[in-house]
Amino acid sequence: MTSTMPRQGAPWTDVKARMTAMAGGDVKWRDGKAAVYVFNAGEDVEQVQKEAYAMFASENGLGPAAFPSLARMEKEVLANGLELLHAPEGAAGAMTSGGTDSILMAVKAARDHARKVRGVAGPLNLVLPQSAHPAFDKACLVMEIEVRRTPLKAWLADPAAMEAAADEATVMIVGSAPCFPYGLFDPIEALSDLALRRDLWLHVDACVGGYIAPFVRMNGGDVPVFDFAAPGVRSMSADLHKYGYCAKGASTVFFRSAELRKLMIFEVGDWPAGKMTTPTLAGTRPGGAIAAAWAVMNFLGVVGYRAKHGMVTKAREIIEAGVTARGFRVIGTPQLGIVAFTRDDVDCLAILGKLYERGWVTSATTEPRGLHLMLSPVHLGVAEAYLADLDWATDAARGQTADGTSAGYAR
Ligand SMILES: Cc1ncc(COP(=O)(O)O)c(C=O)c1O
Repeated sequence: MTSTMPRQGAPWTDVKARMTAMAGGDVKWRDGKAAVYVFNAGEDVEQVQKEAYAMFASENGLGPAAFPSLARMEKEVLANGLELLHAPEGAAGAMTSGGTDSILMAVKAARDHARKVRGVAGPLNLVLPQSAHPAFDKACLVMEIEVRRTPLKAWLADPAAMEAAADEATVMIVGSAPCFPYGLFDPIEALSDLALRRDLWLHVDACVGGYIAPFVRMNGGDVPVFDFAAPGVRSMSADLHKYGYCAKGASTVFFRSAELRKLMIFEVGDWPAGKMTTPTLAGTRPGGAIAAAWAVMNFLGVVGYRAKHGMVTKAREIIEAGVTARGFRVIGTPQLGIVAFTRDDVDCLAILGKLYERGWVTSATTEPRGLHLMLSPVHLGVAEAYLADLDWATDAARGQTADGTSAGYAR
């Protein structure tokens, strides 16, 4: 593509109009047409996100002494997360730019633990269930750690298979709360027992569940032990920009102790501008993402989160009942906002393509080929419309096969 930078700039009103026109082709997520990528808690939350982000869009979280406001906001957001996830006294964390970033930092800390504390010298490996997010593969690629994916048992991590795959050179074992493909909690208590028995670093990836599961439990939902309440959990990732309904670019990574957190921190002094210390991978840290997270948490509070997440639960129940009545099988027993479902007589990836023709941008699973929804509060209002279009799409897809092997849209 050739450069489109103009010689002369244009007035903001013109530039803005062009951007609005470009967005005209995007998925209509405000109407509930996206069940992936966007977590839509409604106009009220969107307004808070955007105004708070704009207030601190130029400020930089890299400089806590210059911006004690941001330092305080980050500290308070972290304290909220630590309490929600039953972290013990002395636990600590950091805000990062997203789930991949949080996972990368946890793997870095675990890698340094293996090297510096346990003294492992040779090649390292990381053991995870087949359903764990590829962010772990990315971290391992960067740090030259071997990835050992283990088979699932009834859609969940199998502690026995993971134990068999782990050895002295294992930097981390992983459980998801819940996993992205099926929205199911891995058996974290069993993994915790394994971690304690074999002295393994257990990371719980609660990128999806960290800021919804505690509230669903408060609402009376059946949520298993998945967090620091399990004594073998050493680190956790939990995304604010998913079910925390915060603006994009905000996640949290937590460690059972400040000592473990220290392993994440980067410090270098040997260059001409003094010592450089960064808690996470980023140098510059967008003040807007920190401020928006703090603002949304304070806007919603516990009562607000319970209400929004209650809408997600209701939407999921409507979808589960609706797809089951239409001959699909729900995979496992989802407890939060992700639901995946499948059928054998029509190719679900072909159905996915048909739904896209009606404006629905949703996701899919490939093992088995199924449909996948990551529901937001806004979906409560459109669940029946989705089911009606699902009827049409299922009929239209009969006899067709999609050739896609990837459930995502990003290319
Ligand atoms: C379970 C899980 N972990 C990690 C991630 C990565 O998060 P991010 O896209 O914010 O990097 C995702 C993203 O969907 C996820 O579902």
